[in-house]
Amino acid sequence: MKLDEAIRNRKSVRAFRPDPVPRETISNIIELARWAPSWGNTQPWEIVIADGVKAKALADTFEEEGKKGTPPRPDIEMPYSFSGLYKNRYINLGRNLLTFMGVERDDKESRMRDYLNMYRLFGAPAIIYLVIDGELNMPYSCLDLGSIGTTICYSALEYGLGTIYLAASMHFPDIVKRVLDIPENKKVVIGIAIGYPNTDMPAGVFRSDRAPLEEILHFA
Ligand SMILES: Cc1cc2nc3c(=O)[nH]c(=O)nc-3n(C[C@H](O)[C@H](O)[C@H](O)COP(=O)(O)O)c2cc1C
Repeated sequence: MKLDEAIRNRKSVRAFRPDPVPRETISNIIELARWAPSWGNTQPWEIVIADGVKAKALADTFEEEGKKGTPPRPDIEMPYSFSGLYKNRYINLGRNLLTFMGVERDDKESRMRDYLNMYRLFGAPAIIYLVIDGELNMPYSCLDLGSIGTTICYSALEYGLGTIYLAASMHFPDIVKRVLDIPENKKVVIGIAIGYPNTDMPAGVFRSDRAPLEEILHFA
């Protein structure tokens, strides 16, 4: 796959087939992605994979918390609200996604089902957690994690795999640490669900839009 094709083809997948992803494939993806840049080549990432029973245990527990309405308690602060331009883009995403999936805005039952489905990792058979040492400088290490995270998403395409960054997968880092044996002093920054896209489902093929170039590009 050519690089420009990969960049244009990558999209967040919100419906996966249950087929397991071979561990060797995941290792190959990480082997490739570890060439991502980082501050001073510190490579602050630790990568923990949950698949099989561990991925299912996480999905089950997240779903239970979702049903109880437990508020998120992430290791790193999450943005809860946006204003102006950003709010519009955020609202547009939700609206376009619901329309594409044929869900009415006031259909609370379907929206709850989709929300819980997100906690079920959209059916992905595996999730890649990006973890850092709790001692590290958060903002810069998070830049580095974004760098390898997105490289992982592109590398996955080479194997016919889809991905989605999932903030929802780090709403309850204590659960992630318990299930995956991650030490307390580490920070679970983000999870990336990975699997074969279910292209029979609208959520498996939905594509978000982008702001026009002239809105974001300025030659000073
Ligand atoms: C840090 C991060 C966290 C995200 N968390 C979620 C999430 O919890 N649920 C979700 O449906 N999408 C999540 N996304 C996916 C974004 O909604 C998606 O990247 C954005 O809409 C652009 O669409 P695209 O990835 O298909 O190009 C997340 C993306 C990022 C970068």
